[in-house]
Amino acid sequence: MTRAIGITDISAATTSLFLPLTALAEAQGTSAGKYLRGIGQHEMSVPCEDEDIVTLAARAAAPIIERHGAGDIRTLLFATETGIDQSKAAGIYVHELLGLSENTRVLELKEACYSATAALQFALGIVARNPGEKVLVIASDIARYELDSSGEATQGAGALAMLVCADPAIMAIEPASGLFTENVHDFWRPNDRTTALVDGRFSVTVYLRAVISAYDDYVSRGGAKFADLSRVCFHQPFTKMAAKAMQTLAKHAGAESVANAVSSLEETMILNRRLGNTYTASVYMGLLSLLEHAELEAGERIGIFSYGSGAVAEFFAGTLIEGYRNHLRPGALTAQLDARREIDYAEYRERHTRADRTGDFETRVEGRGPFRFAGVRDSIRAYEKA
Ligand code: CAA
Repeated sequence: MTRAIGITDISAATTSLFLPLTALAEAQGTSAGKYLRGIGQHEMSVPCEDEDIVTLAARAAAPIIERHGAGDIRTLLFATETGIDQSKAAGIYVHELLGLSENTRVLELKEACYSATAALQFALGIVARNPGEKVLVIASDIARYELDSSGEATQGAGALAMLVCADPAIMAIEPASGLFTENVHDFWRPNDRTTALVDGRFSVTVYLRAVISAYDDYVSRGGAKFADLSRVCFHQPFTKMAAKAMQTLAKHAGAESVANAVSSLEETMILNRRLGNTYTASVYMGLLSLLEHAELEAGERIGIFSYGSGAVAEFFAGTLIEGYRNHLRPGALTAQLDARREIDYAEYRERHTRADRTGDFETRVEGRGPFRFAGVRDSIRAYEKA
């Protein structure tokens, strides 16, 4: 029998500040209902000066290292849209902060919000060849759009780490995978920009087209039928997007009740409503939210739809392992969300503008996590334990 490979631990982190979307709506003269119900977002995580994708990633992964040790980890795959260097992998800083062995390969992957899924698939391949090894997959992003743009309400920040190995304790990933790629400009970020360019309505259209194409490919490659998926986690740039995706997919797949399929998404949205868009981490934040909040049985199959603008998408599934709940850290991310300091619109705007500074600088001590970004000295980013 083929040995199961998949996720044996999962842990997430977010920033120390947040902006309620009611405050954003009020400042913009927009109805709060548009954000709360229209796009289904309540809050967005905002980083402090001394928080970035590296500190978030290390904060997410530290509990995994604490529980499992670093011994068997020979690969760290870091997925992000928010790269901090044109050349060097951000994961190398995380490797140092976590105290991983020097006999580790560390790599950064990029394709908008999709690359964490590529990292997960590559991790499965590495473990299939070397079943004694573990791979640490980390997705970490700070989603930023221009001030006063239509994407502004869909910003957010967070990181999620997964430990991938043979005989996993939480979820075995099945081999069938459905793929989609099309060269489109729905959301992209040229090298001279710190905020994304986006054609919002078009991005929703491409996302929905990708759901159908990737699902059909998944089924044609031996994947399960829609009726055999207990739940589906979708990439959630905003939670309403998952509802639109499920409506489209359920209709396409001939589901008995499209309304029931859409309401089955509720537990996948609880964390994302408060985090905002976490780009590469978003679909796995949906999975974490589902695992923590739904009563699911061992053996149930969870579909996962990952989408990255530009555009690449993938549909695949995993089955839950007996006793998976004992390997979660229920409420750990919610406690971080609750501990964030609320900021007002003026402070949010000032921080958004200041995040674009370049050259050498020191950061103020602000964040509540165990690691901090100390600043840039002689063009080198400096990190330290808090
Ligand atoms: N009460 C309730 N609902 C309201 C409302 C009110 N008072 N006012 C408006 N609404 C509803 C609208 O009817 C609309 O619902 P439907 O989409 O179901 O019709 C919803 O609120 C949003 O309103 P608009 O379409 O007018 O909003 P917008 O055009 O200003 O912005 C957006 C929407 C284009 C998605 C924008 O948020 C955006 O550009 N976001 C960034 C891009 C994005 O996230 N794209 C998603 C797919 S791409 C992807 O997934 C990759 C990624 O992570 C970026």
